[in-house]
Amino acid sequence: MEQYRAISGTRDVLPQERELWQRLEAIVREVMALYAYDEIVTPIFEQTELFARSIGEGTDIVSKEMYTFEDMGGRAIALRPEGTAGVVRAYLENSLGNQKPFQKLWYMGPIFRQERPQKGRQRQFHSFGVEAFGSDGPSVDAEVIALFMAIIKRGGVDGSLHVGSIGDNICRPGYIDTLRDYLSSIGDSLDNTSRERIKTNPLRVLDSKDEGTKEATKDAPSMLDHLCDGCKDHFRGLTEALERLDIPHTVDPRLVRGLDYYTRTVFEVRTDQLGSQDALGGGGRYDGLVEELGGPPTPAVGFGSGMERLVLLMDGADDSFESLDVFVATRGESAQRLSLIVLESLRDSGLKSDTDYLGRSLKAQLRQANRTGAKAAVILGDDELERGVAQVKWMDRDSQDEMPLDSLAAELSIALTSTDGQAGT
Ligand code: HAM
Repeated sequence: MEQYRAISGTRDVLPQERELWQRLEAIVREVMALYAYDEIVTPIFEQTELFARSIGEGTDIVSKEMYTFEDMGGRAIALRPEGTAGVVRAYLENSLGNQKPFQKLWYMGPIFRQERPQKGRQRQFHSFGVEAFGSDGPSVDAEVIALFMAIIKRGGVDGSLHVGSIGDNICRPGYIDTLRDYLSSIGDSLDNTSRERIKTNPLRVLDSKDEGTKEATKDAPSMLDHLCDGCKDHFRGLTEALERLDIPHTVDPRLVRGLDYYTRTVFEVRTDQLGSQDALGGGGRYDGLVEELGGPPTPAVGFGSGMERLVLLMDGADDSFESLDVFVATRGESAQRLSLIVLESLRDSGLKSDTDYLGRSLKAQLRQANRTGAKAAVILGDDELERGVAQVKWMDRDSQDEMPLDSLAAELSIALTSTDGQAGT
């Protein structure tokens, strides 16, 4: 029979990898709490229209990467291709803005994009991100960036921060006209996709990966030279805040993002260790989106990350993955029956414990205890049972103690926790 395989661009996260994922998830939760962000969970599918309206009809994400389907009610539904649109929808639907004038939200979960799979690029990937609603000051932008940098630093990952500004409704339209004229004048030197984008989305031409286009546009007019006074002040406020926070950054006049909702601040954190999929996270300000989706004018800023990429760069799983506190080895049938009760009492006392389920010999069980990294092995044999005791073998040195069964869990718990893993000392 044909073997089923995971859909191209999706993958299983196996138990030995989950260790690293759990570490990243724990860091995310801890840092989000430190920065006083509250968690929100939104559905993984929404009305297709919500994404089209937020991210932009002309973007790659909306025009070719969404997983869409019609539900039984004939509604057009899409698996979320990013996190922001759903959070803004939830923010409005639940009137979160009325509860607090300033809201800081974070989230984590799967995202779906039908892109060509390659290392660090999947069709189902995982992301955590934040969205902060209600303040237009650049200090929030700086805080959001500082938060992301704090997370990757704790994960032992290096990333370089690139920041830019793409202006607002006042200055961007004029800049886009200027850019379009310039690109038309050098149209022959551009790749086909970029030539098409001169009309539809000229900003994206600056983001082209095509070497010829990169070379041809290296002197293209820059948005940073066309910012209006408000945007200029805002951008200066951001870079000054980053300097005060001692966060190294490169001002990148060509930084363009693949989503249309941005205004003013845009940023990306990149790595040079993953080939072309170099963005570890990115985001920016989207002061017009809440209003675009039917809410009151509400400035906002946020970012999203690529967790698969971060996990690829984190140090290998630490040894604690399999390591047990106690392994219970048995000899004889009555000992095996009793082991279930002993295990329960050990776990009740907070000790990570396991036993043999394959009927191995005592010698093989003790070898297994060693492999699991257990600090102690409890040996239960029929003769010990008669005397109401168990042998406790301290695995990190060659010594053994006898302990009464009825106080075993309590005594082990004290011995293993009070000495920080140095069993029995
Ligand atoms: P984005 O840059 O499209 O932004 O995605 C955020 C991050 O998701 C990227 O920097 C990258 O690390 C990761 N990523 C994107 N596509 C893939 C993929 N196919 N496979 C693996 N990882 C991927 C957003 O989605 C915005 N919602 C961020 C934001 C929040 N802006 C404001 N608030």
